[in-house]
Amino acid sequence: MESAVEEEVSVEDEAVDKNVFKDCSKIAFYKRQKQLLSKKSTYRVLLESVTTGKDSTRFQITNEATKIPLLAEVCGIEGNIFRLKINEVTPLKPRYEVPDVLTSKPSTVRLISCSEDTDNLVLAYGKEDLKFHITTDPFKIDLVSEGEVVMSINSLGQLYFEHLQIPPKERATKENKNDEPIDTSQEYQEALGLWEEKFGKFVDIKANGPASVGLDFSLHGFEHLYGIPQHAESHQLKNTGDGDAYRLYNLDVYGYKIHDKMGIYGSVPYLLAHKLGRTIGIFWLNASETLVEINTEPAVECSLTQMDSVVVKQEVKSQTDVHWMSESGIIDVFLLTGPTPSDVFKQYSYLTGTQAMPPFFSLGYHQCRWNYEDEQDVKAVDAGFDEHDIPYDVMWLDIEHTRGKRYFTWDRKRFPNPKRMQELLKSKKRKLVVISDPHIKIDPNYVLYAKAKEQGFFVKNNEGGDFEGVCWPGLSSYLDFTNPKVREWYSGLFDFPVYQGSTDILFIWNDMNEPSVFRGPEQTMQKNAIHHGNWEHRELHNIYGFYQQMATAEGLIQRSKGKERPFVLTRSFFAGSQKYGAVWTGDNRSSWSYLRISIPMLLTLSITGISFCGADVGGFIGNPEAELLVRWYQAGAYQPFFRGHATKNTKRREPWLFGEKYTRLIREAIRARYTLLPYWYTLFYHAHVASEPVIRKCFIGSSSHTTKSHHY
Ligand code: NOJ
Repeated sequence: MESAVEEEVSVEDEAVDKNVFKDCSKIAFYKRQKQLLSKKSTYRVLLESVTTGKDSTRFQITNEATKIPLLAEVCGIEGNIFRLKINEVTPLKPRYEVPDVLTSKPSTVRLISCSEDTDNLVLAYGKEDLKFHITTDPFKIDLVSEGEVVMSINSLGQLYFEHLQIPPKERATKENKNDEPIDTSQEYQEALGLWEEKFGKFVDIKANGPASVGLDFSLHGFEHLYGIPQHAESHQLKNTGDGDAYRLYNLDVYGYKIHDKMGIYGSVPYLLAHKLGRTIGIFWLNASETLVEINTEPAVECSLTQMDSVVVKQEVKSQTDVHWMSESGIIDVFLLTGPTPSDVFKQYSYLTGTQAMPPFFSLGYHQCRWNYEDEQDVKAVDAGFDEHDIPYDVMWLDIEHTRGKRYFTWDRKRFPNPKRMQELLKSKKRKLVVISDPHIKIDPNYVLYAKAKEQGFFVKNNEGGDFEGVCWPGLSSYLDFTNPKVREWYSGLFDFPVYQGSTDILFIWNDMNEPSVFRGPEQTMQKNAIHHGNWEHRELHNIYGFYQQMATAEGLIQRSKGKERPFVLTRSFFAGSQKYGAVWTGDNRSSWSYLRISIPMLLTLSITGISFCGADVGGFIGNPEAELLVRWYQAGAYQPFFRGHATKNTKRREPWLFGEKYTRLIREAIRARYTLLPYWYTLFYHAHVASEPVIRKCFIGSSSHTTKSHHY
């Protein structure tokens, strides 16, 4: 098995292979939405269907092409939030609605219907001057605040909803005269990727067929948008242009490319828009593969007339159009109306929770490397910090600390006495973090595997057997963290008597949880793998890692009988992951450009709720020259999660290995961090109780004029 692992490592040592990962041109639901939207068929509201209940107003919408009605539901949610849900009225089977992300059922505020004409519907949000103007034909919604249209929904007519259908083969045999004739020819089916989609050697067979959804939002007067991590991109979102979109699809991309909109390890389908006087947010609650197009038309000032010597100028408002497209699920979107940035932060955390309060030690400096080889190595590195008078709080152990990548075990040759090692660290008030990945080595003699297998706790393949894929240990199965019973069982594995060799200074790192599957399509799990509740992986791909971190954090809380705060670092994440710990930006490279991009990447994570975030200091891949390493420490000291890390086969780079001059500079940087530790702790307290991102840009002065101005 070891040789299989070595082979994967060398494969990983290459630069990002664009053939391994899809761009928009290879994504069938993107192509379908683009193609079919060009043949505009507008939706209209069926006025007779409008019903207003205590919690929501519902109405049906339909379009000429499909004639299949959709049910729209609008709710007012506490704190000036609107929620719009669109689903089929009677889907063939239930469509996936993302559970476990919203902190609780959000309290609703009664919407008051106050239309003056019969063709439109106006819903007012309580006593606030906030309204939903629903135009019925064609269907469009304007969000109006204090007389100003802030945002329009479906004004570009991009509402798109593929209703579930009976598979063509079954349908051809059924006599159903009401059904429109369908083209079952192989070319047609293949071109649109309806029931089958090919990518390289992979074929995705879709049991439910096409199920894609999409909708457009026009943000009036807005030119500055932020959010939808994770991309190695600028903080301000860029225009996407033709054939291009920000992709939200959690993937293991070793040495990911910079300034690229491809999906990497985690996804938060939430963005903010800011202009002078108003900030708003759009939270698109969907865990399937998602694409976001952004198109900004900046404000233009044009001279209209020349009267005598006086020029009459008029400014045309700027506008940004945002087009969300998801592979499946429903449309479930929250509109956060602000008006200030801090209101939007609060509105978002009201829905998904605030940053977990980190244990104090975790705000200090962390020392990691793949791998600290053995107990001796750990001791020597630990002593090195004391010898060089450099503060640090946490020692990390990567996958090699285990017995053949069997998590929750120890390699007894390298770490014969893990408790003794932890006692040494504990005597200096230090901690240890060890790795625990979601793949479990297929080995009937590995107790954890045997128990999970026996209880049916693995993700299944589409034939009903356990899903099997290759990762660090070789052939593995993957725990189905979407199952609450699996999470409960997994949490129990952290109990001190169960996790042998663990002590109360040991904390956890969840890695490879996109999930990473070597040799799988795009290095991940087949979309037709099956999870608890019989849901396809495609429905919930982006939330898989979220659930592992949730179960791990719960396990650490339980083992301390609810007394200690957990520390869990995760690579993959989703909206709401902030409740469970910290996130880092994965496999970056030792170069100046990766140091530079770490700043916008972390700012973006922060404003989407994930304050506890960091990037590998020094860069994970490659060998930093001394100056880059120093500069990285100097930047990292001011980033929320502060950890030095390096991949296998890189040169050792503990802070004292580059000569006294550099040791001194690194010492000063780390010490500066420690001097400010109480301040960091206070900032995290504010993030935890008042939803204030620990790092954030200054939300002032990005002026884009919103009103027509006349200068004489
Ligand atoms: C990938 C992670 O991103 C990296 O930080 C880690 O060292 C390796 N996996 C090995 O566990």
